[in-house]
Amino acid sequence: MPARTVRTAAVQRPKGTRDFLPAQMAKRRWLQDVFRRQAELFGFREVGTPAFEHVELFTLRSGQGIIEDMYDFRDKGGRHLALRPELTAPTMRLYIEGLLGAPKPLKLSYFGNCFRYEQPQKGRYREFWQFGAEILGAKRVQGEIELLALADACLRGSGLKRFVLRIGHVGILKKILEDAGIGPKEQAPLMPLIDKRDHEGLRAAIERLGADPSNVMDVLMSSGGREILSKVPGSGLEEVLDGLASCGVTEYIIEPGIARGLDYYTGMVFEVDVPDLGAEKQVLGGGTYALAELLGGESTESTGFAIGFDRVLVALEAQMTQFPAPRLDFYIIPMGPSERSYALKVLSEMRRVGIAADIDIAGRNISKALKYASDAGASEAVLIGEEELRNKTLSVKNLATGEQRAARLEELLKR
Ligand code: HAM
Repeated sequence: MPARTVRTAAVQRPKGTRDFLPAQMAKRRWLQDVFRRQAELFGFREVGTPAFEHVELFTLRSGQGIIEDMYDFRDKGGRHLALRPELTAPTMRLYIEGLLGAPKPLKLSYFGNCFRYEQPQKGRYREFWQFGAEILGAKRVQGEIELLALADACLRGSGLKRFVLRIGHVGILKKILEDAGIGPKEQAPLMPLIDKRDHEGLRAAIERLGADPSNVMDVLMSSGGREILSKVPGSGLEEVLDGLASCGVTEYIIEPGIARGLDYYTGMVFEVDVPDLGAEKQVLGGGTYALAELLGGESTESTGFAIGFDRVLVALEAQMTQFPAPRLDFYIIPMGPSERSYALKVLSEMRRVGIAADIDIAGRNISKALKYASDAGASEAVLIGEEELRNKTLSVKNLATGEQRAARLEELLKR
């Protein structure tokens, strides 16, 4: 792409949002395709939900962090609505409104924009995209294995390197707090401290409650391999890890101190970090949760994850990943007005058979048109002048080598 002129528009885009120029959009389209293909290979089917919902959908169980960051507003009819901060609650609502009778397990995936009123920085935006998947109504452990395997396949399929999968269990974490004499109500304000790994703050808060922090701190600060599971008996994670091993997923860290920023988790939780990214290094989060009964359905085993699509892209760019460029096979240059009609026929035939082709519509001279074709990423230019028109041939110029040859249209269409 040639250098672009930067100017300040009279009205600028809102803070924390981004425009995507064609080169960036091409990368985004490619990455979406990678994730969608993996989900489809695993038997997931994509769903779509509205960008805004009734605010209660998120205030029911998503947790204080999400509520504070939410874009909520009254519409002209006085309804209290919110731009979706995530897609799990909307997917569960969709399930209850439209898929209750469908055969289980349901394997649903989604890709959509989410909105959180956060302080923007690299990797943290007010409008960002999530690619996610939810399994409803499976046997819990089997669903968890399937989901973790998909998460791993999506990230590997994108070419991402140096990412770390951390697995914990919120149910066990809550039990350890309870064993220390901290009841469910008192636990809620501790969870954000655990999530932020604010160990000093946590120790002080536990002491203020009159409880002994030593065992809690010991478990929360531990991380390592499978042997860590002995500190959190009853998590059932051994079976999940065995299943993962059969799926070829063997690289992970067991970290009982994963609390997650959302309130609806009840069992296994997991996160993926890309340490290269610095502050906003978490590219994926998920776990087993209870939402269906809160939203008016029956209790349904549910497990899911969401990938921070934008963060994966930032990481791929930082890791110098080569993204495939969009294809443009031919750029057609009619030399003058009398050749245009034949050039349009050639162009249309090419497009009809699936060849990516473009034509000069700016009436440039040949050298400028060739430069434009190169900038646009075309592989070859097709020059059509008087002679080509008379002989019904085409002059094809390879834009990388500069070599030129004569060809017939039928030959090019066979590509
Ligand atoms: P979450 O951890 O809140 O989980 O978000 C998932 C991912 O979205 C994060 O790991 C992060 O990569 C990305 N993300 C979050 N906020 C931002 C932001 N402001 N800018 C850029 N990226 C961001 C959930 O949303 C759950 N619904 C995941 C889930 C699905 N749990 C079960 N099913």
